[in-house]
Amino acid sequence: NPPTPLKIAVIPGDGIGTEVMPHGLHCLRAAASAYNLSLQFTHYAFASCAYYLTHGTMLPADWKALLSTHDAIYFGAVGMPNQVPDHISAWGSLLRFRREYDQYVNLRPCRLMPGVPSPLSGKRAGDIDFVVVRENTEGEYSSIGGRIFAGTERETVVQETVMTRVGVDRILRYALELAKRRPRKHVTSATKSNGISITMPYWDERMDVLRAEPEFEDVRVDKFHIDILTAWMVLRPEQFDVVVGSNLFGDILSDLGPACTGTIGIAPSANINPEGRFPSLFEPVHGSAPDIAGKGIANPVGMIWAGQMLLEHFGFGEAAKGVLTAIENVLGRGEVGVLTPDMKGEGTTDTLGRAIEREIFEVA
Ligand code: NAI
Ligand code: MG
Repeated sequence: NPPTPLKIAVIPGDGIGTEVMPHGLHCLRAAASAYNLSLQFTHYAFASCAYYLTHGTMLPADWKALLSTHDAIYFGAVGMPNQVPDHISAWGSLLRFRREYDQYVNLRPCRLMPGVPSPLSGKRAGDIDFVVVRENTEGEYSSIGGRIFAGTERETVVQETVMTRVGVDRILRYALELAKRRPRKHVTSATKSNGISITMPYWDERMDVLRAEPEFEDVRVDKFHIDILTAWMVLRPEQFDVVVGSNLFGDILSDLGPACTGTIGIAPSANINPEGRFPSLFEPVHGSAPDIAGKGIANPVGMIWAGQMLLEHFGFGEAAKGVLTAIENVLGRGEVGVLTPDMKGEGTTDTLGRAIEREIFEVA
């Protein structure tokens, strides 16, 4: 059962993060009122470059105590590369949340929306509808390794992949459980056990163990080597439902998948701590877009859709379905005056955000 009230920390961040966040909140409030949900929002100005420029740090010393009281973090985007180097702004905020809150699942839905042309020819809304589940804490992105004989002919670098049974099992189990709740009940595992001869066979081995559990009896599981998997994602995206990958493979697939479904302005993402020991974080995929910040033309759909993922994650399935349908209806109508310029429209953040907000009430 969802926590009541569901406590949400609101962090708009920088640039268009501050422009799309109000619309994300309008839509969440609309869903709360239409479906009778209890959501409680608390706003924080930190984790932004503006905060850094006055305080000399991206986060206050007590950030963890403050944010840990929440179930979720609803996050805009961080970065003002002209004023604060990206490694300071990102590593000092967003990446600390992901790490210190053990958000080991990165989720990216890849769904072709009506009215959004796919770069893949001949694909229509409904043809592509899968979700990429990426392991977010270990695997290829370890800091174990080093360089010896630097600057000499024997210069040697080594970096290790780390796969733990705990880490592999929990991400595979998450993917299997997610598939079990979806109509097609199908998991595709990304592997490369023909080339990477120790860790990837282990990944496959753990999948074989987990899928054999009685609770996953009705889940269909297949696996592909990452190279042909990327090809299938472009050639036959219809075949996928849930796609699970290690940190590196998931990173690649979680950019490729949404790219097959259109513009960066609409893609959402979630970083999840499934046990709820720590807050989970919901954000649009895009950054702070300094090139269009302040113009009021940023597409708010990525932010709104991230809010939809938040509702879904906490078990507000009906409201989540309503918000998704509202987004689809508004995009599908394709009104030039409503859509933002990145969707070939002449509308603004406000016209598109308000249209979706109204549609949420219509749909409910
Ligand atoms: P970006 O995603 O901010 O922008 C890339 C391009 O897409 C730009 O041309 C931008 O105008 C366009 N775009 C992005 N979101 C849009 C939207 N909602 N509506 C319409 N057009 C949109 O990526 P970029 O330029 O590489 O990074 C800018 C800053 O954002 C940097 O400081 C970077 O570190 C930060 N960043 C932060 C992320 C986060 O907070 N999760 C993710 C990616 C980048
Ligand atoms: Mg990436």
